[in-house]
Amino acid sequence: TPVQVKKIACIGAGYVGGPTCSMIAHKCPHIQVTIVDVNADRINAWNSDTLPIYEPGLEEIVKACRGKNLFFDTDIDKAIVEADLIFVSVNTPTKKSGVGAGYAADLFYVELCTRRIASVATSSKIVVEKSTVPCRTAQSMRTILEANSRPGLRFDILSNPEFLAEGTAINDLAHPDRVLIGSLGTPEGRAAQASLVDVYANWVPREKCITTGLWSSELTKLAANAILAQRISSINALSAICEVTGADVDEVAYACGLDSRIGPKFLKSSVGFGGSCFQKDILNLVYLSESLHLPEVADYWRQVITMNEYQKRRFAQTVVSSMFNTITNKKLAVLGFAFKKDTGDTRETPSATVCRFFRQESAKISVYDPKVPEKQIFLDLTEPGVVDDSEQVKKQVTVCKSAMEACTGAEGICVLTEWDEFKTLDWSAIYASMAKPAMVFDGRGILDADKLREIGFKVFSIGKGV
Ligand code: NAD
Ligand code: UGA
Repeated sequence: TPVQVKKIACIGAGYVGGPTCSMIAHKCPHIQVTIVDVNADRINAWNSDTLPIYEPGLEEIVKACRGKNLFFDTDIDKAIVEADLIFVSVNTPTKKSGVGAGYAADLFYVELCTRRIASVATSSKIVVEKSTVPCRTAQSMRTILEANSRPGLRFDILSNPEFLAEGTAINDLAHPDRVLIGSLGTPEGRAAQASLVDVYANWVPREKCITTGLWSSELTKLAANAILAQRISSINALSAICEVTGADVDEVAYACGLDSRIGPKFLKSSVGFGGSCFQKDILNLVYLSESLHLPEVADYWRQVITMNEYQKRRFAQTVVSSMFNTITNKKLAVLGFAFKKDTGDTRETPSATVCRFFRQESAKISVYDPKVPEKQIFLDLTEPGVVDDSEQVKKQVTVCKSAMEACTGAEGICVLTEWDEFKTLDWSAIYASMAKPAMVFDGRGILDADKLREIGFKVFSIGKGV
């Protein structure tokens, strides 16, 4: 019979653990939720007025529940001992060295938490994989738990991947398209699955709680991200054709998207996709395919990444060629550094790739982003391992407090994140301040190019020919 969950621990207070478990606390006042992390600074920030991540609507939820049924703590062992159900929501980055370097997911942190749970638990637990992991990771977790725990304890492992997107996390969590819970199909596994369904059923309609086997659930997470990213690479591949032929990528995407079999979402052409997961999860899928001796399958998914790299490079090259083949010592304004709007996250942001390209061409870059701190921008633009590079970055890159400041006196402006405020800037005033010919490169397709041309700008938009 399903256990009624009264106390939840979440290991990992990051972009996923924080918002997800705050939402559970918000929707389930009868459940005590404790989110723990090894990073004390992060926990302190969760307990402060300035949360460690920016996400619209998050602060309201955290402030309403914090200290009541929602706690942020560094005492991992205590949280494990007390909980009936534990989410493992730690990072699973791409491995940097060793077998599978550059492709495989690094399961070091997942294994560390699993061993911690095994060694400190004094009662049976439901252990939930929330992190994105390679197919069959739950098997390894089960083996570790069973081999290292006190006799007589039961550990039921569930896979419950997270599908939230940054910038819309709170809405995605409040109204998910589906909640996916995988279990071993045993009676005990199904009972654990039912316990977790009961938690979500406090706000998610039961028919949206999909229950599957463990391996399907694990693979679905990689598959969903791969398919989403593939749509972006598909439209970006078409954008290159549009620029040469004079077709308009937005018109093509709109007309294709009206076919109900295709659908309109995730067909917005851009300077390339970023974010912590698309690339990582596809590489993970590529590695899985290769490990299973399926090289054609691996090549198929790898191409999604290859196209994305091409798109970023192609954009940067267009800027250089439009500016008479040299940007040496020219001032370029970069509007937007986050990987998408409404987040301060810069992981794998295309903006950093484009800025690095501009650095190599010796441009002067002035960056403005409404949410990314100056320190983070410098960190992302410094080449690791290059001596004195941070000094060089400071000579080439200025971080500005407003879009106007970044654009004043520039020869070219690149829009690299689709922040709404960029649509309503005083473009006439910007034009007046710029060196001529004043150029705008819209890497997100958000500006009214006709209006800008009326003002006098030369405009390049992704996927639009001249
Ligand atoms: P993150 O880096 O923001 O957070 C992970 C946290 O885990 C860090 O604060 C880290 O200090 C902590 N941690 C690591 N090892 C620990 C340990 N042994 N004990 C306690 N704490 C530990 O990562 P994230 O973006 O929240 O992603 C977490 C997982 O969720 C990843 O597997 C990711 O693929 C997946 N995911 C992320 C997103 C997203 O939008 N970011 C969406 C869906 C799924
Ligand atoms: C993505 C998925 O959308 C989530 O479902 C998933 O949970 C998450 O990855 C994850 O596993 O981490 P996220 O990366 O936060 O979420 O944001 P997206 O909205 O998917 O955007 C990713 C990137 O693609 C951004 O750089 C965005 O600008 C770009 N994008 C998105 C496009 O270029 N075109 C589009 O049409 C959509």
